[in-house]
Amino acid sequence: MNIARDSLEFGSRYPRLSELIDLEKMRVDRRVFTDPQIYQLEIEMIWEKTWLFLAHESQVPNCFDYFRAYMGPHSVFLWRNAEGGLQCFANVCAHRGATICNSMHGNARSISCEFHGWSYDSFGRLLAMPKERDAAHHPDFSKEKFGLKSVPRLENYRGFIFASLNPSVPSLLDHLGDAKAMIDLFVDSAPHGIEILPGASTTRFKGNWKNQSENSLDGWHADVTHASYMMTQKNRTKRKDQMFMDGSLDLSAMYQDKSMESGFYNFKNGHASLWSDWPNLEQRPNYAQFLEFKKLYGEEKAKWLSGRFRNLLVYPGIYLIDHLSTQIRVFRPLSVDETEVTLYCVGHRGESPQSRNVRLRQYEDCFNAGGMITADDYIEFERCQAGYDNAGHQWNEFSRGFDRLQTETDAHGKALGIKAELCGSQFEDEGIYIGLWKEWLRLMTSD
Ligand code: FES
Ligand SMILES: [Fe+2]
Repeated sequence: MNIARDSLEFGSRYPRLSELIDLEKMRVDRRVFTDPQIYQLEIEMIWEKTWLFLAHESQVPNCFDYFRAYMGPHSVFLWRNAEGGLQCFANVCAHRGATICNSMHGNARSISCEFHGWSYDSFGRLLAMPKERDAAHHPDFSKEKFGLKSVPRLENYRGFIFASLNPSVPSLLDHLGDAKAMIDLFVDSAPHGIEILPGASTTRFKGNWKNQSENSLDGWHADVTHASYMMTQKNRTKRKDQMFMDGSLDLSAMYQDKSMESGFYNFKNGHASLWSDWPNLEQRPNYAQFLEFKKLYGEEKAKWLSGRFRNLLVYPGIYLIDHLSTQIRVFRPLSVDETEVTLYCVGHRGESPQSRNVRLRQYEDCFNAGGMITADDYIEFERCQAGYDNAGHQWNEFSRGFDRLQTETDAHGKALGIKAELCGSQFEDEGIYIGLWKEWLRLMTSD
């Protein structure tokens, strides 16, 4: 790996990594999306080094619950042991390397490898193996040496479980920094807590993972890329189609009504949040809750809790989204030009059946495998990947809003007690990407 890294920095074929990321002019060299060597380095320096989201604790609530996840290319699984503690294990049998957790989730006191039958308990200890009595192993062999391997770091912030393959990574709290305030809003908007609703939607697109990293921060694309969704919404309103009007965000008003405030925050370590006021709040599933929050905390806090469009990127691979639906979007790289994305719909515990119904219909309408929004984005990612591969422009340009960049946190952010590294005041401005590219460069060139 060092050879590849040196050639990236010093070889004749490539410029230095720092020359590929031009934050002053707000542009990145398109080779960062297409080069296989850069991709390999990203696995080593980003996906194997920093914190990655695995699951929400509502997905492993009970003793012996397990949940399979990925850390970049590595398969792992969470397993809640007999004493209620949570561990994360590499999904690898100690015998000859087969994956042992082959279901997405479940509950098991022990898990047996399906190759030769070695079985492990919930603490990861090797329990037994078939034909153990006459195994006649090498004298060095002992069952104690052949337990499952734990992932070195596992921490939880407000129910969000993260792990890192890097034993010396700074704490999760330190990693999240002021992005914690946005996670707090996601959780506190549900007075009785959030829960991941059953089921997940996993899809793949033929494009680089960084397209997805950028995209849910991209306020400029939505009224163009998702024009057919906006037209459909207009027609539904015209037809007074109540079934489909419930809970829909009036996206076109967000772009056309200049009284709507919006902006973005860049936090340290690549995290970023895009936000906007909500034009037709009364159609959200939790509008009654908004009115309640307003009474309790006043308008500004109530807006932050449930009256604003909020997307939070926790760099590099998870979005907490609260707009057309409330969802967690997890993604991972499969190769330099293929990415897997999994969506989970998030519900508020104890909400009324009517609210839950609106929430689910709205989620399916826009985001599930057949939703109107998701596929629009993936097509554009694939078009970008195809475009990058052709000789042509060297740079991806993102300087919209250059003149509006602020290093002083705006009043809305101050009301939350956050200090952003960079702040923007328009939904469509692209300075929001600066933080994530800065973090990309920091991780890629760190020791
Ligand atoms: S590889 Fe798992 S028991 Fe042999
Ligand atoms: Fe989109």
